[in-house]
Amino acid sequence: MTASSMQVDPSINKSSDVQLPWVEKYRPQRLEDLVAHEEIINIITNLIDSDNLPHLLLYGPPGTGKTSTIVAAAKRMYGKSYSGMTLELNASDARGIDVVRNEIKEFAGTKQLFNNGVKLIILDEADAMTNDAQFALRRVIEKYTKNARFCLICNYVSKIIPALQSRCTRFRFAPLAQNQIQSRLEEVAKAENVALSEDGMKAVLRLSGGDMRRVLNLLQSTAMSHKEVDENNVYLTSGAPLPRDIDEILNCLLNETMQTAFTNITGMCSGKGYALSDILHDLAAKLIDMKLDSAPLAKLLNGMSQVEHRLASGTDERIQAASLVGVFVETRQLLTI
Ligand SMILES: Nc1ncnc2c1ncn2[C@@H]1O[C@H](COP(=O)(O)OP(=O)(O)O)[C@@H](O)[C@H]1O
Ligand SMILES: [Mg+2]
Repeated sequence: MTASSMQVDPSINKSSDVQLPWVEKYRPQRLEDLVAHEEIINIITNLIDSDNLPHLLLYGPPGTGKTSTIVAAAKRMYGKSYSGMTLELNASDARGIDVVRNEIKEFAGTKQLFNNGVKLIILDEADAMTNDAQFALRRVIEKYTKNARFCLICNYVSKIIPALQSRCTRFRFAPLAQNQIQSRLEEVAKAENVALSEDGMKAVLRLSGGDMRRVLNLLQSTAMSHKEVDENNVYLTSGAPLPRDIDEILNCLLNETMQTAFTNITGMCSGKGYALSDILHDLAAKLIDMKLDSAPLAKLLNGMSQVEHRLASGTDERIQAASLVGVFVETRQLLTI
């Protein structure tokens, strides 16, 4: 992502016809616009205002505001000279550490005419760097600490070598809570005149998994393909199995003969375009909610996890669907529902 694509002022785009993805259109521009992570935002704001920004390591699942936070922080630090003082690199680009090193050298080595402060170098997706590249980066960070601050961003902090971790102040971005997502979702729906129903909102929240990017993308794609954003349309757009279809599948698995259950489930999968792995995921959540006895529940989950594992290694969906039915049929005598 380039720096220019992020500098979007929402007020400019509201009236224009340009179809900007809503994740960019509604990217928070200021630190105080971010919902959630108040403590992190407060600490970073204080560090900036006292001119004490350390190297940063922001980590956590996608769509939780890591990139937005650092971009907003940079805008607070530099104001108009933002683009001259900030370098954004995507560490997972296949360009290798040498290119990254040269770009950093060129950027950190040149002085800005009207700004003597330290520059900011953002390395997004740093967990995609090889260990060798990370060791090389450690030396780069040491070399330029006088002129620049580094901000590493990643999903998995365990993939960052300890030597780099110890040079940074770490902040964990947790998945957003439902009420935090809801307030933002309502704002965007209102600004875009989306007819968002109560069950539609719940469906978006349920499918988002705390990922605000997924929330906005799902809202936009549902609103573009349907008049109303209700539960049915949200599920149709996302391709995720409808809750009532999961209920029907579970009913088949618990009560029908092997043959009938297999026919119904594979029929539903091909008719509605469901992936078996999505069905497994929803079934597991449902089974856990049902508060079954431990022994049958353990057996079912264990069997389902094996089906999921085999699916992930690219085996045939129909055979695994049969296997899923088999897991239930084998466990039925243990179940007393
Ligand atoms: N805390 C938040 N508050 C408001 N919007 C958010 C927040 N986190 C994410 N978003 C929305 O989700 C999109 C993706 O956020 P981003 O900062 O790129 O996530 P990350 O870098 O953690 O994957 C942003 O454009 C923004 O619209
Ligand atoms: Mg990001």
